[in-house]
Amino acid sequence: RITPVLLAGGSGTRLWPLSRKSYPKQFAPLLGEESLFQASVRRLSGSAAGPEWALDFDAPVVVTGNDFRFIVAEQMGAVEVDPGAVLIEPEGRNTAPAILAAALHLAARDPEAILLVAPSDHVIPDAAAFHEAVARGLSAVAEGRLVTFGIRPTHAETAYGYLEVPGLPEEAQEPLPLRRFVEKPEAEAAARMLAKGTFLWNAGIFLFAAKDILAAFRAHAPDLLEPVEAAVREARPDLGFLRLAPGPWARTREISVDYAVMEKAANLSVVPYGSAWSDLGGWDAVWRESLPDDAGVVLTGGATAIDCRDTLLRSDSQQLEIVGIGLRNIMAVAMNDAVLVADMSRAQDVRKAVEVLKAKG
Ligand code: GDD
Ligand code: MG
Repeated sequence: RITPVLLAGGSGTRLWPLSRKSYPKQFAPLLGEESLFQASVRRLSGSAAGPEWALDFDAPVVVTGNDFRFIVAEQMGAVEVDPGAVLIEPEGRNTAPAILAAALHLAARDPEAILLVAPSDHVIPDAAAFHEAVARGLSAVAEGRLVTFGIRPTHAETAYGYLEVPGLPEEAQEPLPLRRFVEKPEAEAAARMLAKGTFLWNAGIFLFAAKDILAAFRAHAPDLLEPVEAAVREARPDLGFLRLAPGPWARTREISVDYAVMEKAANLSVVPYGSAWSDLGGWDAVWRESLPDDAGVVLTGGATAIDCRDTLLRSDSQQLEIVGIGLRNIMAVAMNDAVLVADMSRAQDVRKAVEVLKAKG
């Protein structure tokens, strides 16, 4: 059996103004009624599995921030999935400490436990194909490997990790050994890797045995072990949540698992994943995933477009109607208290807007 570990502590600033520090994108209804977090919980729950699905998951462990604990509880309740545990980080320290805490928590009961670490903000429409890919990774896990999932790259994206494989047969589905893991390359390096044809994007999803990821942390990020171990050991149950101890947690380094472990470990494998996957990393991705009409227009909420092309108009406010006329490549997102208007090509720069607003106070 596999225990899903859902990471739900990120702040998703590139989807401002819908995604907020107090209500990040994974909890917001970005596509349809359900949040991405809820869709992720259902994708990883045994109860949602149809008969064609091979996998039976244990109750998920959710790792999240203090501010989000009630949102997590409420949204899991709404999809009728009980968490195995909700670990609360006193402060976000990025994914390495979060994953280490979950691994230690589960290893205390069973060092052989198999963890499926997954972000809570991705779009993976075909749950059956996803379960199949996870099942394929189990043979590599049995050999002590850390399994990643690889997406065929379509452009020289700099926001992702790249996975180098020795060769990439067209129909490859079985786990391939990894030559190299390159996290978030510069644009030039990304273009080179894309051209080479032997790189996949890292989907940000990992499958491994608790004991193997602990060994990898011991080898490549040993400084994290003592404080995270102490934070887990001294964790305090509180209203169904498990609060990691703030004292030791404050001594942990802020770093992602990609830099801390994956770039350094030699025992990585990758399962190629051919079905649809998106890390809704910006409003341009939301626009693409929302299936634009023939003119490339996506309208959400009270929105009207007149003679627009390749444009996203979205109102998440009951009070605001948004109308666009003659727009090309524009995204406009309205909330009650803020409106974003930007060129579609600048979707990644929305994060800068949040920094500027934060500096203004
Ligand atoms: N609990 C917790 N605590 N969760 C966190 C924290 C934290 O401090 N920081 C981030 N997360 C969650 C996010 O909410 C998200 O679900 C997941 O961890 C991944 O974090 P991101 O910040 O979104 O990572 P990324 O997108 O920049 O990069 C990762 O994903 C890419 C694919 O989407 C890397 O693994 C890349 O290599 C990969 O290509
Ligand atoms: Mg992400």
